[in-house]
Amino acid sequence: MQAQRLAAAAGQRYSCRSYTADVPPNLDQLAPFLTDGFEPFPHNSEVRFHILDKPAVIQQILKGPWGPVSRLLLMAVRSDQPHYLEALGYAGQQLILEATALDIQTCWVAGMCDLKQAARHFPGLDSPWSVQAVSPLGCGTSGSKTGMKQKLFKFLSAQRGQRHGLDVLMHPTELASLPPVLVNAIQAAAKAPSALNRQPWRYALRGTELIVSSTQTAPQRTHPSRLDLGIAMLEFTAAVRAQGQDGHWQPRQADANPVAAFVLSA
Ligand SMILES: Cc1cc2nc3c(=O)[nH]c(=O)nc-3n(C[C@H](O)[C@H](O)[C@H](O)COP(=O)(O)O)c2cc1C
Repeated sequence: MQAQRLAAAAGQRYSCRSYTADVPPNLDQLAPFLTDGFEPFPHNSEVRFHILDKPAVIQQILKGPWGPVSRLLLMAVRSDQPHYLEALGYAGQQLILEATALDIQTCWVAGMCDLKQAARHFPGLDSPWSVQAVSPLGCGTSGSKTGMKQKLFKFLSAQRGQRHGLDVLMHPTELASLPPVLVNAIQAAAKAPSALNRQPWRYALRGTELIVSSTQTAPQRTHPSRLDLGIAMLEFTAAVRAQGQDGHWQPRQADANPVAAFVLSA
């Protein structure tokens, strides 16, 4: 993982919801990341990516007025793995951020789309694999960051595009006892995208361990919030490493909170 590149891209990324028909000039450079260019979490998780290049099919998969999207990233995972949604979020966000670094616009889409149709167009995808999310890989129309569609979506989404403060993400007393590198990482990962901008992750200390949990009171490995957690965990890891420290998430029991604990290397 090129942490500094991904952390910088995380600060630039936004969900683009209006595309031209153009194929992004740098798309070929994303290809090496589709197969083995990303770091898995957990280490034995299995995810697969495919770039669909059939605009007519893409129109059927994407519901809503996205414009003539020419390329769609399909994100698939083995759904029989305990941490499969976190795995897809963690790997997928590396591709999304690499795309951002290559000046390719993206938007995670898991709700307003036909994922079964997407799976039918994923070469060689059989059960227990499933497509859990897609993202356009494209060129935004001019003003796509500030246009009416974008404003309307932000208006409808939780907190209107704003992010939780640190005091919501972790109890201030616990936060005060963390080393600055971890506080900075929590702050950086607050910018991570989540479905409807719900930001369903929270941090806490368990002994000396920093743990991350879902806000869902009855967390299950199949709950969609787990995808958001994987995305935020990736941005957290990139932020730690971009500060010159190393560390990684260790998964916890899949059907309960916490989801994982972060181990900072000495
Ligand atoms: C797992 C996931 C699913 C999402 N699904 C949709 C979707 O179906 N439609 C959509 O327009 N945006 C979708 N989004 C984008 C979020 O609404 C967006 O990330 C959030 O509002 C924060 O805005 P930002 O990405 O511009 O920072 C999704 C994001 C994630 C992470």
